[in-house]
Amino acid sequence: MRPISRRNAVLLGGLGTAAAVAGGAGLWWSLNSPQQPTAVGGNSGGNGGGAAPAPGAELRDPAELRSANGRLELTLDAAPGRVELGGRQARALCYNGTVPGPTLRLRPGDELNVRLVNGLNEPTNLHVHGLHVSPQADADNVFIAVLPGQGFDYRYRLPSDHPPGVYWYHPHHHGMVADQIFAGLFGAIIVEDPETIPVSTERVLLVSDTTLDSAGNIAAVSPMERMAGREGELLLLNGQSNPLLTAQPGTRERWRIINTCVGRFLRLRLDGQQLQLLGMDSGRSPEPETVDELLLAPGNRADLLVTAAAGEAVLQALPYDRGGMPGMMGQGLFPGSGAGALATFRVSGASATPPGAVMSRPAQEDLRTAAVAARRQLVLSMGAGQGMRGGGMGGMMRFTINGREYSEARTDTTVAAGTVEEWTLVNTSPMDHPFHLHVWPMQLINDNGRAVGPVVMRDVVNVRANGRATVRIAFRDFSGRSVYHCHILDHEDLGMMGVIEVR
Ligand code: C2O
Ligand code: CU
Repeated sequence: MRPISRRNAVLLGGLGTAAAVAGGAGLWWSLNSPQQPTAVGGNSGGNGGGAAPAPGAELRDPAELRSANGRLELTLDAAPGRVELGGRQARALCYNGTVPGPTLRLRPGDELNVRLVNGLNEPTNLHVHGLHVSPQADADNVFIAVLPGQGFDYRYRLPSDHPPGVYWYHPHHHGMVADQIFAGLFGAIIVEDPETIPVSTERVLLVSDTTLDSAGNIAAVSPMERMAGREGELLLLNGQSNPLLTAQPGTRERWRIINTCVGRFLRLRLDGQQLQLLGMDSGRSPEPETVDELLLAPGNRADLLVTAAAGEAVLQALPYDRGGMPGMMGQGLFPGSGAGALATFRVSGASATPPGAVMSRPAQEDLRTAAVAARRQLVLSMGAGQGMRGGGMGGMMRFTINGREYSEARTDTTVAAGTVEEWTLVNTSPMDHPFHLHVWPMQLINDNGRAVGPVVMRDVVNVRANGRATVRIAFRDFSGRSVYHCHILDHEDLGMMGVIEVR
């Protein structure tokens, strides 16, 4: 276990008491035992890390809407609906009646017009996660609140040099983000490549998790789960439990994987198959990179080539230690974060003719050689909050950046438009925090003491428990107010978010 400060130890001792009386939640923590990896998914429909589970139905693809002549126009109805989740009838929140919502396929230079209609009984809004578009007015403006029964017309214009890649959309109304995504509000956005990449099949794979009560409603979440960053009992791929994907040996597929989970990290493996990473988050590396494991923090995406080899492989999420609140039952809260089977990949039949080569891309710009206009430090902390001092129960921890909880009215960081800055993200807490900045992608320079080799662009950078990361950001193309926050969206809702203004 990581060393913890005396102050935290006292504080977390108080939390331990809360855990002990939390009933069902306490049971759930004891299920997540690091000594028994096969029990880790015990709350995920029995699809733990042990023997390969029986695959479910064929994978369903979300509906797709594709831009034509430089534009895509659509209506997104956010409303409660009855859908099947993990083989169960559920009452969830849907975009256009489905979970996930439709996939939006765009090209650089496109205009995207979305009419969001709020059929919920609470406010919502829309964020296009990772897109390099304006944060102002009717574009990617998270300060807009769309009230129940109302609609809003969003207009986004992608620059003509917008990086290709995998993006996604989800609500961003502060205080309700985690609940609305957990209930089913998310969908994929693909920005197509300028050149074709020869593949037999392209799949959009949205990973989510949620918990249903016995009536099929989305289960309520305790304050403890919010502080930890909830992990749902059902681990889903396009709303299905362990769906079946089939292919012929020798074919090359392209998988666009999105981690839409509120708090769950995905350490992914597909043993026995050849995996090549084209990119993560925004942009593509010049050459596909051979990998055997991928870590997707909440919010991250992977653009992956899979060359099929005969046999049956399980796309698995392996346990990942994202820290937690030590002192609670003598262990971290989620010692085996994410574990479970996500899909079964069945490869059989005649061998296909080998696919054509993947063209290399020009090298990405490297901000390590850029002139830095400002250096900043952002400190991500968890500390005692109201009603918690002295080990009191019923209170919430404070989730802060530079000591402050989110306030929409306050601008925390002011940046000169057109400049490059270097930010050091410091995590003083015993839990990982995946840091997300809207609009402007970050180049990872140093990851917890390790200098990064080739150019790595991310819009979610995981800052390890008691660790740090350094990034450089080019504040180009757009000005205006936007936000950065922890993408464990419970933490964001609890205040771990700040306002940036570029001007
Ligand atoms: Cu995917 Cu500000 O979030
Ligand atoms: Cu966090």
